[in-house]
Amino acid sequence: MTATLPYLDASLPVAERVADLVGRMTLPEKVGQMLQLNAKDGVDALVTDFHVGSILHASPENVRRAHELTAQTRLGIPLLVAEDCIHGHSFWEGATIFPTQLGMAASWDPTLLERVARITAVEAAATGIHWTFSPVLCITRDLRWGRVTETFGEDPHLIGELAAAMVRGYQGEGLDDPTAILATAKHFAGYSETQGGRDASEADISRRKLRAWFLPPFERVAREGCRTFMLGYQSMDGVPVTINSWLLDDVLRGEWGYTGTLVTDWDNVGRMVWEQHIQPDYTHASAAAVNAGNDMIMTTPQFFAGAQDAIARGMLDEARIDAAVARILTLKFELGLFEDPRHPDTEAQAAVIHAAEHATFNLDVARRSLVLLANDGVLPLDGGFEADAEGRATGSTTVRTVAVVGPSADDQHTQLGDWAGNSGQADWLPEGHPRELTTTVLDGFRTLSPEGWAVTHARGADIVKLGPNPDGEFFPDGQPRPLAATSAPVDEAQLAQAVAAAKDADFVVAVVGDCIDLVGETKSTATLELLGGQVALLDALAQTGTPYVVVLMASKPLVLPASAMNANAIIWAANPGMAGGRAIAEIALGLVEPSGRLPISFAAHVGQQPVFYHQIPGQHGSRYADLTQRPPFAFGEGLSYTTIEYSDLQITQTQLTEADTVRASVTVANTGTRPALETVQVYVSDVVTPVTWAAKELKTYVQVELAPGEQRTVDLELPVAACTIVDAHERRVVDPGEFALLVGPSSRDEALLRAEFHVS
Ligand code: NOJ
Repeated sequence: MTATLPYLDASLPVAERVADLVGRMTLPEKVGQMLQLNAKDGVDALVTDFHVGSILHASPENVRRAHELTAQTRLGIPLLVAEDCIHGHSFWEGATIFPTQLGMAASWDPTLLERVARITAVEAAATGIHWTFSPVLCITRDLRWGRVTETFGEDPHLIGELAAAMVRGYQGEGLDDPTAILATAKHFAGYSETQGGRDASEADISRRKLRAWFLPPFERVAREGCRTFMLGYQSMDGVPVTINSWLLDDVLRGEWGYTGTLVTDWDNVGRMVWEQHIQPDYTHASAAAVNAGNDMIMTTPQFFAGAQDAIARGMLDEARIDAAVARILTLKFELGLFEDPRHPDTEAQAAVIHAAEHATFNLDVARRSLVLLANDGVLPLDGGFEADAEGRATGSTTVRTVAVVGPSADDQHTQLGDWAGNSGQADWLPEGHPRELTTTVLDGFRTLSPEGWAVTHARGADIVKLGPNPDGEFFPDGQPRPLAATSAPVDEAQLAQAVAAAKDADFVVAVVGDCIDLVGETKSTATLELLGGQVALLDALAQTGTPYVVVLMASKPLVLPASAMNANAIIWAANPGMAGGRAIAEIALGLVEPSGRLPISFAAHVGQQPVFYHQIPGQHGSRYADLTQRPPFAFGEGLSYTTIEYSDLQITQTQLTEADTVRASVTVANTGTRPALETVQVYVSDVVTPVTWAAKELKTYVQVELAPGEQRTVDLELPVAACTIVDAHERRVVDPGEFALLVGPSSRDEALLRAEFHVS
């Protein structure tokens, strides 16, 4: 091969290089280019027999080997190496693991998320990864779903803000930046509208509802240049997303003008044969997937023969294959992989993997991810402390004992969350990340409590017992089934130890929640209760009379028993990542102010769902016969260690047209003695609508720092064009008439000030 071949000439335009290369490829090479196969069992056959365009879940050794083999292929087309780096470079030993998306969403801070994604890209790029399957733009609806922690929560506007920030962070200044990696908007679209919370069940969802709430975050990142989209597992109205031509052609590529690349989810093409039974064989399934516009086929090796057979039988036009291959090659040329295939770089790895500045920033992210849900004044402990040069609490005049108890107090894996280390997808990291890189809650208190304080520990309870999966070890697609989890029995000896520790202590910090075995794909839960001996533990702790703080380390909102709701304080920590335990101790000791706000509502009972705040009004009565509908903690809520008062909401000009901007101001005052980062939330209610519509929707928000005693006038701006509904004909429109601007610290009606404006 000589450098004179046009596709190897970097001075030519990408389109020309693509056309030249596609013209040189044989049909098997082109079909292989559309395949992304699992590198788990080695890469030799993938590269030499299947001519794959991409691999995923490759161990460092397999990445190296795959590059070596592709370099020897006829055309030398570089590979796209893909991985789920979804809250950090999760499957690289020792990389920075941030809180999960849901935890990070509690920061409500796009700048923070953009930097998380940038750091992830820098660490991943050094290890030879070109493509991450992040961010998740699904809206959480049913809290039983196992993947709630992978989402940004329940609100389309917040999801759009944070997802767009992550896309910017991953893709950097442009794909030719060697630290840029491809972002993926997933799972397009409606995947989270489960039935009974069961992962990947058929989604019962209308096109209008999709347009109203599920599609807007995707549209936003499509228009902002997210280079790849992953299609969900589910079907809607009987049609798997993989072949939903309305969604893929009319909406995504048509209305939104999307020119990026589509990747299926795991064996979506095979799923149409063996699970959904809508295609008789792989030939038909492959033809249908390509005809619908899919470019990259994830983990369906049978596509290789299937697509070729479909062409031979006249079911598929080769031009469709060429178009898909062209889109994939465009990515490779734009990444500059033909000039520099971006192999793993050990020097860069030594410099960037969990670099000190990444670890420091991760601590900031963990702090911002914590939400203080309740506090009777017990926090900060003993009124709070100053930090010394090492960040340790100093200035205590009284020696105290803190009992840090509970099954999640010292559980590294649950703290890191799903898609990290040993959570199942990467078998080259059986032990997960090095233990010393994670500060558990127990570690945090041991490190940061004032000199002389005693920190004691007892596990107190187990959460689940694991046993073999009665349905067998593997799913039909070859993925391992999770072990079957059942609620663990109360262990009286463990319980007695925790009670004894609590009795001997001045404060108890009880760290309870779910555990890694209850989180993730195929691990939706039937209940939202604290499982195992945890309720018995909290009940017993409450009986001791020692003040107690509940730290809920839970991948998603759980239903809290009375003994948790009556705790002196409650902190929700999601899965807070490597620095999470330190951040929790810092907040409890008053070294840092709590500032997180809920991106998702909690339910009081599993049967109370859905509890998301932007529901459509209308039902007989306003409650269940046996229970209210009120969420115990609602979207947007979160406390500070100070008090904030809102007053004087004013709209400058109340008669507006669609082309105008609503300009308003509100006074926000810190009336307490500690600083705060306040999230001023702006909701809109369209008073009369031609169709039923959400009672209110978040439209924008502003974060302001307020010193003790400080009062500020916060200016708010909202384009009228954002105050839309989706009408009965699926059109997104501004419906003229009266609107209410609702401003305050959370989505609760009683927390919001109201001012009206009129759109003509
Ligand atoms: C299936 C999951 O649904 C998706 O989110 C993930 O990116 C792929 N598997 C690859 O691991």
